[in-house]
Amino acid sequence: MAKPSFSCSACGASFTKWSGRCEDCGEWNTIGQYAGLSVGPAKTSLGAKRGRAVTLTDLASDETPPPRACSGIDELDRVLGGGLVPASAILVGGDPGIGKSTLLLQAAAAFARKGLKTLYVSGEEASAQVRMRARRLGLADAPVQLAAETNLRDILTTLEAEKPGLVIIDSIQTMWADNVDSAPGSVSQVRASAHELTTFAKRTGISVIMVGHVTKDGQIAGPRVVEHMVDTVLYFEGERGHQFRILRSVKNRFGAADEIGVFEMTGAGLAEVTNPSALFLSERGTPSPGSVVFAGIEGTRPVLVELQALVAPSPHSQPRRTVVGWDGGRLAMILAVLEARCGIPFAGLDVYLNVAGGLKISEPAADLAVAAALLSAREDQALPADTVVFGEISLSGALRPASQTENRLKEAQKLGFTSAIAPAGGKTAAGTDIALKRPSDLVGFVGEFFGAG
Ligand code: TYD
Ligand code: MG
Repeated sequence: MAKPSFSCSACGASFTKWSGRCEDCGEWNTIGQYAGLSVGPAKTSLGAKRGRAVTLTDLASDETPPPRACSGIDELDRVLGGGLVPASAILVGGDPGIGKSTLLLQAAAAFARKGLKTLYVSGEEASAQVRMRARRLGLADAPVQLAAETNLRDILTTLEAEKPGLVIIDSIQTMWADNVDSAPGSVSQVRASAHELTTFAKRTGISVIMVGHVTKDGQIAGPRVVEHMVDTVLYFEGERGHQFRILRSVKNRFGAADEIGVFEMTGAGLAEVTNPSALFLSERGTPSPGSVVFAGIEGTRPVLVELQALVAPSPHSQPRRTVVGWDGGRLAMILAVLEARCGIPFAGLDVYLNVAGGLKISEPAADLAVAAALLSAREDQALPADTVVFGEISLSGALRPASQTENRLKEAQKLGFTSAIAPAGGKTAAGTDIALKRPSDLVGFVGEFFGAG
């Protein structure tokens, strides 16, 4: 009898016995028994039986790659790395109700109108529901072909016959591969369906976009390996209460990762936001303590965003540290550096940090802006108006220059800012009139702007 086989749903590592924690990735409670992709583990090694010799080519071939297809939705095309690459597999993840189906129906219509034969397969909604949404979005006349189907075998057979340029699968969790003995949505079904669709894309040259649901902790539900299989992983993010939606590439074999596209959810679907800085700063009132404008870079584009901090005496023995839109560990580090290097304690104080507009920032260049917001809130002292801040803080309290200083400053100038605080050492920006203040370390920064430390 074949040994039972267990695998980790987070990293895909396989084991011969169950355990509570995956030895490979360290995740807890992710190991489960699964029915493998093929008939099961091989009983012998590959052995002496010969395979087929693979044809080798060299790097310099004279085939010109087929051109990328553009949808005309610039925010989408840019996140894809400049359009859709033929034969690519793309995974779009996001919370339920965030607007994935809306985005992809609009994308399908846009690609179809540009002459790319497009098929939209919905496993979640009936064709009538998709048609109703298309009518509401004013897309009813787009030459998109629809199917409401979950049987992967039937879908692949249809694709072989129809030969579209692009197929959209909404969603991968509803697909059912009949060669795998478990329910749709299970780890092995999701893995098998994604594998089938990805290899199908490579074999036939059809681009496949798959929708993936996201679990509570923000990962695409199903095995991590799905993210490794596909060429591009995009996340569609946003706060439910806000109308802004951000499409972010977290992996892209054909373009820059961390590129973002910004959309606004309106009554008639998603509208592109071509000037995100203006949007993120639109809710900003008069400069107040705790509010600082960070000049960031998202992918290839500069984006200005407001950071808001609140520091208040804590009634708890364990003061609160609450962060929205930034990394909690990084906040703890900044607080520790401020305390150790500048002698500014935050013990006994609750600290709240929020990135306005629902954007999530991962750049270390936000360190200095975060420190500025925290100090400004703590000292109840607003920074000079029309000032942007950026720069990285090291554990020693030294400041490191951020990349693309020039682009950040140009964007700030475009939006009417007149001065910037950034670490010394970075390239100075030719061609901007922004007054640069360049503290050499954190102590200097605190002394200059908050008169303490
Ligand atoms: P949907 O695309 O169904 O989300 P997902 O596929 O990610 O689950 O979007 C659902 C939400 O979007 C729903 O709450 C209503 C809202 N919406 C609008 O505000 N305007 C629109 O034009 C459409 C189609 C949806
Ligand atoms: Mg949906």
